[in-house]
Amino acid sequence: MNILIQHPALQAEIDKVAEVAGYLWQKGWAERNGGNITINITAYVDDAMRALPALTEPRPIGKALPHLAGCWFYCKGTGRRMRDLARDPMANGSIIRILPGCDRYEIVADAPVAPTSELPSHLAVHDYLLAKGSPYRASLHTHPIELVALTHSRKWLEKDAATRMLWSMIPETRAFCPRGLGIVPYLMPSSVELAEATIRALDEDYDVVMWEKHGVFAVETDILNAFDQVDVLNKAAQIYIAARNMGFEPEGMSDAQMDELKGAFGLPK
Ligand code: 13P
Ligand code: ZN
Repeated sequence: MNILIQHPALQAEIDKVAEVAGYLWQKGWAERNGGNITINITAYVDDAMRALPALTEPRPIGKALPHLAGCWFYCKGTGRRMRDLARDPMANGSIIRILPGCDRYEIVADAPVAPTSELPSHLAVHDYLLAKGSPYRASLHTHPIELVALTHSRKWLEKDAATRMLWSMIPETRAFCPRGLGIVPYLMPSSVELAEATIRALDEDYDVVMWEKHGVFAVETDILNAFDQVDVLNKAAQIYIAARNMGFEPEGMSDAQMDELKGAFGLPK
């Protein structure tokens, strides 16, 4: 059964996921099964959904996440391609619900598609967001080429070195990514350690964090906004690289010019 037919508001959120999945593929950020998306869909769950039987046995999350009590998520399927998800999000992802105790989940709809291998990071981040009363409901992990390339240099892994350079490339980056880019040192993909380091970085007040030599993890109110954050930051990295390719180090906007934007836009940092 396609549960989205009876749930147009939820359908609209899943449509946004499919739209973003298409952009990720078009940008070259989603090779093979690269990247993953989860969204907290608890607000759209009604009695009809609550009555749905589980399609799988309970599965462990790896950790108890107490703020996820009663929560439901749409998750990209592990090994699934973004380009396929763009066409058919419910065949390449699934809806899960967290079970009492908050350390297990079960798949509820539409098919028993196993969630992304980065589920520990995604769910830990959603738990963290709920704990702090954040309105953010979407999380995105993707492999943006130029941002990942930056992390192969120690210089750009220094705290806020990449943030300052990216902000200085074009005013929009300062204005629309006002929290900059956090850095998470290389850790094994899918690991609980990576999940914990991601939360520590987000807690330093970033919306987008870089997983060294791997990809970015972004959070926002919805998945389109999460995509925009990454897109704006990666565009700035492309401008930097274009200047370097023309044979010069880009001048960058001055601190005074960036401070002016901070005042004009009422930016947090
Ligand atoms: P999944 O296919 O399990 O979502 O993994 C993709 C990925 O990018 C892992 O970091
Ligand atoms: Zn990845």
